Amino acid sequence: MCGIVGYIGNREAYPIILNGLKRLEYRGYDSAGIALYDGEKMHLSKTKGKVADLEERVKSEIPTKGSLGIGHTRWATHGVPNDINSHPHVSNSGELVIIHNGIIENYATLKKELINRGYTFESDTDTEVLVNLIEEIQKQENVKLGKAVQIALNQVVGAYAIALFDVKKPDEIVVAKLGSPLAIGIGEDEFFIASDASPFIEFTNNAIYLEDEEMAIIRKGRDIKIRKIKGDTLVDPYIQELKMNLEQIEKGGYDHFMLKEIYEQPAVIKDTYRGRLLADKGIVRLGGLENYIEKFTNADRIIIVACGTSWHAGLVAEYIFEEWARIPVEVEYASEFRYRNPIITSKDVVIAISQSGETADTLAAIKLAKQKGAFVYGICNVVGSTISRETHSGTYTHAGPEIGVASTKAFTTQITVLTLIALKLAKEKGTISQSDFMLHLRELELIPSKVEEALKSNDKIEEIAEVFKDVSNFLYLGRGYNFPVALEGALKLKEISYIHAEGYPAAEMKHGPIALIDEHMPVVVIAINSNHYEKVVSNIQEIKSRKGIIIAVVTEGDKDVKEMADYYMEVPNTPEALTPLLTTISLQLLSYHIAVMLNRNVDQPRNLAKSVTVE
Ligand code: G6P
Repeated sequence: MCGIVGYIGNREAYPIILNGLKRLEYRGYDSAGIALYDGEKMHLSKTKGKVADLEERVKSEIPTKGSLGIGHTRWATHGVPNDINSHPHVSNSGELVIIHNGIIENYATLKKELINRGYTFESDTDTEVLVNLIEEIQKQENVKLGKAVQIALNQVVGAYAIALFDVKKPDEIVVAKLGSPLAIGIGEDEFFIASDASPFIEFTNNAIYLEDEEMAIIRKGRDIKIRKIKGDTLVDPYIQELKMNLEQIEKGGYDHFMLKEIYEQPAVIKDTYRGRLLADKGIVRLGGLENYIEKFTNADRIIIVACGTSWHAGLVAEYIFEEWARIPVEVEYASEFRYRNPIITSKDVVIAISQSGETADTLAAIKLAKQKGAFVYGICNVVGSTISRETHSGTYTHAGPEIGVASTKAFTTQITVLTLIALKLAKEKGTISQSDFMLHLRELELIPSKVEEALKSNDKIEEIAEVFKDVSNFLYLGRGYNFPVALEGALKLKEISYIHAEGYPAAEMKHGPIALIDEHMPVVVIAINSNHYEKVVSNIQEIKSRKGIIIAVVTEGDKDVKEMADYYMEVPNTPEALTPLLTTISLQLLSYHIAVMLNRNVDQPRNLAKSVTVE
């Protein structure tokens, strides 16, 4: 949460920082701010609201000259979103200015000590405490900024990615990281700092991703010194070549990133299995898995930990793994798992699923599982992310940057990877017949064109959205592989339209939600060709006889459900285990259109953030 950007070099810093903040706005958008050094003075502007509000404010408030600056877009933790709590924060002397993504947990104690020493505070933030702590250490110990930051961070409990500079020494920025991401872009005589590489991708392909407990002193026109925050050892910079390009992080003609990302699914599902799925040869090849197959095949059970949409992908995996690989699977919310003293042994395999690879709860669950001796496998989208580094091995999804806060293509590519893993393990264990194995490999290869087909219902789904955009509640029902899709469909609607929606296993409806059904309640029922088709038909009848309105997701060529349903959305036929990859598409489009019609901010829904790096 929160995006940070910084620049030091020879160009004008303001446009780089402003543009960078716009690209990082998915990380948080309660408030935004910027500090620029014009060669003589530091100028600060910050405001509650979006980066666009900041842009307006800057026009009348500060000069935008200068080639050193830092900027921030916030997702509030300590202190309500208002102008004063916005970053950057300045120390009492007015000389140090800082931006921070994360939480300083012991800020209250530190604040008291600083107040006793005469410091005053304008904001309610933990960040203002940190910048003054650094200032106090600088004074007391008579040390340079880098050293003062290091001493301060050794007193701090919490998580952070910070960047700060001293107006007395405007040729250097100090950055540090623990738990929140921080990338440094390396140009010629210039450096970029950001929460991810998107703010500087058009300037350089070379980046350093700081590791946890590392800090760097970045000097204009000179070098970068990276050292450990604890122990003080110097670290050799590891410069990575970025694969991301500008086109991937722009809207490309779509009205919203979410819509663009929905439409990218045929391509990114293919990218995710390319080179890994060799259907003709009957081979699944996953680099991260090859050396660890026995860890999985000998495992007592697989525990999947994740949050949000990634957790739903985990639920789909539970059905697939148990069906094919016959390994018991448990799916846990990372936030619950990490605090309930779970029973884990070295015979367990833990799979952590995370688009961002930065989710704090998932990361903590991984650390706990490792402590208890489990083998931990990661499924992440962001290359080099903390989770991808913390896990013993893993497989990347190749969804490309996902900017819309509501996750779409990350979900379907996660399911693609999980399907490949399950098929590989089942083959290895001999728990799937050769014909079933081959069938699913071939069918998985056809999924991208079937997703294209499902996307063709867009106009029809838009018409359905028009009918239901003003209702207050929705119910989503699915069974088997499509029960998690019902949960995901309801989550998507809640996230971006703010309409209350609940996902339920269809058969559980009669144990409670049926009481909600009347002529005002739309019920989205996933009623595709499956083993449960007849049973879902019965569920639909139960709803109809109570005057509920049915919006069904059906398989092309379906007759019975189409006749019963008030509205339907079609998807192509595919084996049941692969249907979530298609049924999800219809539900993504339904939520998208409803949210657009309600004038919601589809890409940045209220109160949410793309990457939740706090508990
Ligand atoms: C946030 C996002 C969700 C996402 C969840 C888990 O809540 O808004 O879209 O599913 O975090 O994120 P992860 O990056 O770990 O998949």
